[in-house]
Amino acid sequence: MSQAFDVVVIGGGPGGYIAAIRAAQLGFKVACIDEWKNAAGGPAPGGTCTNVGCIPSKALLQSSEHFDHANHHFADHGISATNVKIDIAKMIGRKDAVVKQNNDGILYLFKKNKVTFFHGRGSFVKAVEAGYEIQVTGAKEELITGQQIILATGSNARALPGVPFDEETVLSNDGALRIGAVPKKLVLIGSGVIGLEMGSVWRRLGSDVTILEGLPTFLGAVDEQIAKEAKKAFDKQGMKIELGVKVGDVKTSKKGVSVAYTNAKGEAQSIDADKLIVSIGRVPNTIGLNAEAVGLQLDERGAIVVDAECRTSLKGVWAVGDVVRGPMLAHKAEEEGVAVAERIAGQHGHVNFNTIPWVIYTSPEIAWVGETEQQLKARGAAYKAGTFPFLANGRARALGDTTGMVKFLADAATDEILGVHIVGPMASELIAEAVVAMEFKASAEDIARICHAHPSLSEATKEAALAVDKRTLNF
Ligand code: FAD
Ligand code: NAI
Repeated sequence: MSQAFDVVVIGGGPGGYIAAIRAAQLGFKVACIDEWKNAAGGPAPGGTCTNVGCIPSKALLQSSEHFDHANHHFADHGISATNVKIDIAKMIGRKDAVVKQNNDGILYLFKKNKVTFFHGRGSFVKAVEAGYEIQVTGAKEELITGQQIILATGSNARALPGVPFDEETVLSNDGALRIGAVPKKLVLIGSGVIGLEMGSVWRRLGSDVTILEGLPTFLGAVDEQIAKEAKKAFDKQGMKIELGVKVGDVKTSKKGVSVAYTNAKGEAQSIDADKLIVSIGRVPNTIGLNAEAVGLQLDERGAIVVDAECRTSLKGVWAVGDVVRGPMLAHKAEEEGVAVAERIAGQHGHVNFNTIPWVIYTSPEIAWVGETEQQLKARGAAYKAGTFPFLANGRARALGDTTGMVKFLADAATDEILGVHIVGPMASELIAEAVVAMEFKASAEDIARICHAHPSLSEATKEAALAVDKRTLNF
């Protein structure tokens, strides 16, 4: 007799494990199935985000930033640090330990919330009267049923056509997070989020980094003024970013890799490197779900088709996170997971796509929420803009990091905040205020009238809000 659950979640990444916890909080009998294995073959829930994404990348960004500071910025504070060395094995070991803490944390949360965890692959067998029969294939084979199914099977790195990842020389995000020694020369294809974050890690550690980007514009989804400022900072750091290239043959050898490409002027070029990271986007993952058995509808990209509330084409089957439309972000996956669990419980779960923040954890950090200036122009919106540079912020000066600015975009008539864009120190944390403000439909003046601690970087946010009305106090 198979075990019966009210809710079965397939995938234990941020979309899946959060959905499982929320469903359990709401009183359902919940199972979560996840197949990710740690090095010892044991369970490692948390998905891409925890194992080869958000968490390990931020651990390496932190380590490499310390190294960069010791080499280049300590001296400004009167601290001499000569002959600074990096032990890559230790740095990677620390990153792995951080990952394990997160895996263990999720297993603990499952126990705490009485979520039954299955380590293995979950696949559809058939629809039954009580919902769906799901096969779990892992160390043990089990058959379970779920009245409601939440699919949260995530995404995989997209490879260049004909250039599979070997994770030795041609690396996806997985290999990029466990390079054993600083590559002398590193080439990345794609100057999106992963390209910039991973490029930053290895540049700070000493690699000669070149990023080849297909599009003629740098960070096209980012507000142009912010992207321009960020590009200036990356150029200054020596990260070479070539825009408008067309990548040709990629040849690997014992010595490394050679990438042929045509540059923006149409000239044939080639570049040799020790390692190549391919970061050209990700593809939704439904491998192994046996979606055909139940007739689950996928779109032309392989994403599970869902409506605005994450309902799939099948009754009682929902899908969230990277495997469906929308931005591939951990917090978007989490919000969808919570909303779906609440909808199953008859509540009104809601995800506001207009207030999902984006953060690129480079130095300077880039963060934004809402519309960009180019989007406002494109839709003919009447808007006001206000910017404030960190150069004029006391805390930024004290930190020794005055790159960048905060930019506000507000409706010309109502003053409602339409977008906030930040490039600079701690942009990842500063953006939260803007998200709250936009969620509450605040005006720029609301922020301008709020008391912000002094000295703090958040004063730059207040000043940018004041700038919308052309009345900054410190600039
Ligand atoms: P995933 O995290 O991919 O989880 C899916 C899980 O399902 C996996 O564990 C997988 O093994 C399992 N699975 C799949 N099929 C089955 C099956 N049939 N049976 C059982 N288990 C299955 N986002 C951010 O918001 N901030 C960041 O800083 C950030 N940094 C990133 C850095 C990198 C290098 C990468 C690659 C991504 C980053 N992301 C970041 C994106 C983020 O990782 C994803 O958006 C997020 O993980 C999506 O969550 P998910 O639950 O949809 O899928
Ligand atoms: P991306 O979509 O951010 O960037 C891919 C880049 O590659 C684009 O600029 C694209 O124009 C370029 N490109 C595509 N094909 C190309 C080709 N053949 N040749 C040259 N350039 C090409 O994707 P990325 O960086 O792989 O990251 C995947 C997703 O993971 C992101 O979209 C994001 O959702 C998530 N992520 C989020 C992070 C965060 O929130 N801080 C960090 C890392 C990843």
